[in-house]
Amino acid sequence: MPPYWGLGFHLCRWGYSSTAITRQVVANMTAARFPLDVQWNDLDYADAKRDFTFNKKSFKDYPEMVRDFHSRGLRYIMIVDAGISSSGPPGTYKPYDEGLKRGVFIRNATGQPLIGKVWPGPTAFPDFTNPATHEWWHDMVKEFHEQVPFDGMWLDMNEPSNFVEGSQHGCPNNNLEHPPYVPGVFGGRLQAGTICASSQQYLSSHYNLHSLYGLSEAIASHDALLRVRGKRPFIISRSTFAGHGRYAGHWTGDVGSDWEQLYYSIPEVLLFNLFGVPMVGADICGFMGDTSEELCVRWTQLGAFYPFMRNHNDHGTRPQEPYTFSPPAQAAMRSALRLRYSLLPFLYTLFHRAHTAGETVARPLFLEFPTDPNSWAVDRQLLWGGGLLVTPVLEAGQTKVSGYFPAGTWYSLAGDSTIHSKGQWILLPAPLDTINVHVRAGHILPLQEPAFNTAQSRSKGMALVVALTPDGFARGDLFWDDGESWETFERGDYTEILFLASNDAVLSQLLRASPHLDGVLLEAVTVLGVTSPPRRVLANGAIVSDFSYRSDTQVSRRSQGEAMLLPWSLRPNPSPSLVPGAAPALPTLLGLVFPLAAGW
Ligand code: GLC
Repeated sequence: MPPYWGLGFHLCRWGYSSTAITRQVVANMTAARFPLDVQWNDLDYADAKRDFTFNKKSFKDYPEMVRDFHSRGLRYIMIVDAGISSSGPPGTYKPYDEGLKRGVFIRNATGQPLIGKVWPGPTAFPDFTNPATHEWWHDMVKEFHEQVPFDGMWLDMNEPSNFVEGSQHGCPNNNLEHPPYVPGVFGGRLQAGTICASSQQYLSSHYNLHSLYGLSEAIASHDALLRVRGKRPFIISRSTFAGHGRYAGHWTGDVGSDWEQLYYSIPEVLLFNLFGVPMVGADICGFMGDTSEELCVRWTQLGAFYPFMRNHNDHGTRPQEPYTFSPPAQAAMRSALRLRYSLLPFLYTLFHRAHTAGETVARPLFLEFPTDPNSWAVDRQLLWGGGLLVTPVLEAGQTKVSGYFPAGTWYSLAGDSTIHSKGQWILLPAPLDTINVHVRAGHILPLQEPAFNTAQSRSKGMALVVALTPDGFARGDLFWDDGESWETFERGDYTEILFLASNDAVLSQLLRASPHLDGVLLEAVTVLGVTSPPRRVLANGAIVSDFSYRSDTQVSRRSQGEAMLLPWSLRPNPSPSLVPGAAPALPTLLGLVFPLAAGW
């Protein structure tokens, strides 16, 4: 289960070469009124690119910078590479000295630490299958955290990646290095871009363990972060294996800043969800090469629906932070971010289902519609859970997009159009400021008023979007806790509410209560698919006067005006339903969806 803040917007690049520049990035985001939850640094922070060090000149006030971010409700993550610099004189770099002493590094044929080459130059590779390595890694994480109170870890180069083949001295000539069958690996040789297959780890040969390197590092990092911070760890790793999702998430590595890679990110995100690694995303706007404004807008719109939403960029390429673009592009990005932040309670609830039931968060259509052969090959759209369909523009110069809509009713989230599909491809308007998002009939989504970070948004008013089936039914739920404590579900320290719509009423049932939702109000409800204008709307038995109804789209919502405040009823002796007693006789309700395009 990720911390709630991990669902917010993350911003990174290779090339934020000082604390002054990193601070300026955050200031620019604030000035331009973009949400931001997590600021990141790449290798720039480190002294000579070595893990667990920082540059005492350009990052002199590094600890203060991170504390400043915390005081504004932001979180902070920095990169950690797998290779540990091995070339400094003894006594100058503790992670290597201590690692040597404790025997934590992978060994070559002669029993010495295998030395390869990564960003800092010559490096040794920690063997995370060794329990001693876990202790050493924990100690390094702890010591660094005592100086710089970071919130999560970004694990890179952990295939493990090596700039020389095998090691600085090559590899022995044996069966493990040259097996009779070599799969189609990078470079055509097992050692290409990595370490010798016959190098020795605690558990077995590297030949047997190679693909587990990232997972074993993720497990050690997860344990270390949990012990050091005492909170739910947040880790993003480049290398993964089956089982990784229990410990960490994944970003899809060095994607090019082009339209084809934007498209490929969808199958990649969907696959990782099927693999049990739901916290996944590609570098928004692309990593390698210069992005373009249009590509970056479209990528931010799609990225708002990656479970892990991070804009990251290579060094030396054109800046791509949202505030570097024209006012219309910024407005489009702002509204995509605002849309994501509105949907975070729904997204968090999906993560809860992934955590407790192994469900996918981002989901391919075929998983929901397995008997519809048309859905099997759809890889340009994605669902969130079973209820929200995202149809992004993936090509340059397009203001329309074609999407597949399985049979049923689909309402645009904005409430301005309805599709009754027989299982059809439908051409949708998609100007640059728009991403098409449809709610599937039968689902209720919990929303929350967006803010500039999740520390703020978590106390804002909530809303429900109720998408009725033709016979007037819908259901949904909300999982809520403090957002970062360890094992809240396992300890029962959470709130869970079931929402049901039927017989012209929207009801909530409190399945479990905790104080974490105290003070949060349900401010609005939008019902999609109300077939005739309501004559009367009741909320908790009282007449509601300020509702509106659109006969064209059959959307009933609160009119623009003062917010309707319905308590969640989570005090002692909670009333279990939002609309207790007899259901009102007429189609219910009211409500607002946070005006998505509003100037912010
Ligand atoms: C690798 C990572 C990339 C990072 C770079 C520098 O290429 O995949 O995200 O920016 O190393 O650390």
